[in-house]
Amino acid sequence: MMASPASLRRAAASLAFVVAVAASASPASAAQATPPQMGFNNWNSTHCRDEFNETMIRGIADKFISMGLRDAGYRYVNIDDCWANWQRDKNGNLEPNPKRFPSGIKALADYIHAHGLKFGLYSSAGTSTCEPLQENRGFPGGLGHEKQDAATFASWGVDYLKYDNCNNQKVDARKRYTAMAEALRATGRPIFYSVCEWGENKPWLWAGKPPVDAGSWRTTGDISDSYASMLKNFKQNVVLDRYATPGHYNDPDMLEVGNGGMTDVEYKSHFSLWSIMAAPLLIGTDLRTIKPDALQILLNKEVIAVDQDPLGVQGKQVRDADGIHVIVKPLKDGSRAVAVFNEADTPREVSVSATEIGLKTGGSYNVRDLWTHTQEKGDGALKLSLQPHATAMYRISTL
Ligand code: GLA
Repeated sequence: MMASPASLRRAAASLAFVVAVAASASPASAAQATPPQMGFNNWNSTHCRDEFNETMIRGIADKFISMGLRDAGYRYVNIDDCWANWQRDKNGNLEPNPKRFPSGIKALADYIHAHGLKFGLYSSAGTSTCEPLQENRGFPGGLGHEKQDAATFASWGVDYLKYDNCNNQKVDARKRYTAMAEALRATGRPIFYSVCEWGENKPWLWAGKPPVDAGSWRTTGDISDSYASMLKNFKQNVVLDRYATPGHYNDPDMLEVGNGGMTDVEYKSHFSLWSIMAAPLLIGTDLRTIKPDALQILLNKEVIAVDQDPLGVQGKQVRDADGIHVIVKPLKDGSRAVAVFNEADTPREVSVSATEIGLKTGGSYNVRDLWTHTQEKGDGALKLSLQPHATAMYRISTL
């Protein structure tokens, strides 16, 4: 039987309906977002000291495997400032510092790739990088050299670029970060783009969108290995939750866990808070000498799962009162992660209601403690005692 024009029109209309439904369903499948980046960066542990060299970085890649960090999700081994030679070569190409990286950057990237890991490098969207200025010379920056430098990075097998903000000659930030974004894309190699302009030009408004389209952007100045510094960066970043989108994250700077300037309670808070904020988890301590307790923090897979949740949503602070912070992060499976942080110097008893967490009252829930790895059934409300500077973290799901 021949289809009548009317039935064809109906079929076309229902096909259009199916297409429209499929299109509107795609944001849900796009919710399988690229999670925040995880890995290592040498800066917080070495700065520019001589110990920052290829032997160290190869040793770190080895530790990723032997300590189970790769299995826990850490992927990038990144090197920071001071990797470059003082000048470009006669053709204007960047070169590594021959003392630190005598085998060259390509050989280092190959070594890291052979471990099933990815390799990241650093530059600055300025005429020279941030450190050090010796005899009035910094290390060469990327401003005006974007295409040439991006091509060099791609030829070395770079998978990640952290692009800093020093010596920027007051050129508009969007212009500078766009020029490198476009140069990286033009190489044809996927290179994760980490914008590092310290929150100076409100990068949360533009860095995650085309044409920059960065995977993350720093929202703060540099972290240091102290509770006060960690707290400051947390407070600046936690209020920016609405600007993070799946695959595009606020970055309150790299982890200090293991560097010795905070207690383990504070390092657990640091790791919990960064995870509930869907922040990049970049280890900043020397894994060749890390203490077992610090390593256990970095390997807490239940906390990591909150950071890496495929919904890709930054937790929202639902309470900031009297030194107590409550942050709630929706997760892909319908459960909610909750962090309760005691900023104060005294112990505190804290109650959080189911409503505050965004749960229906009168429900039955499984409340999993992500640090003690135990669980209880309950009505979704929390009652807890927190030591000074401590964070408790839970995953709450419907029974
Ligand atoms: C800036 C960045 C730091 C680090 C240093 C290197 O301060 O914010 O993360 O990369 O430069 O010099």
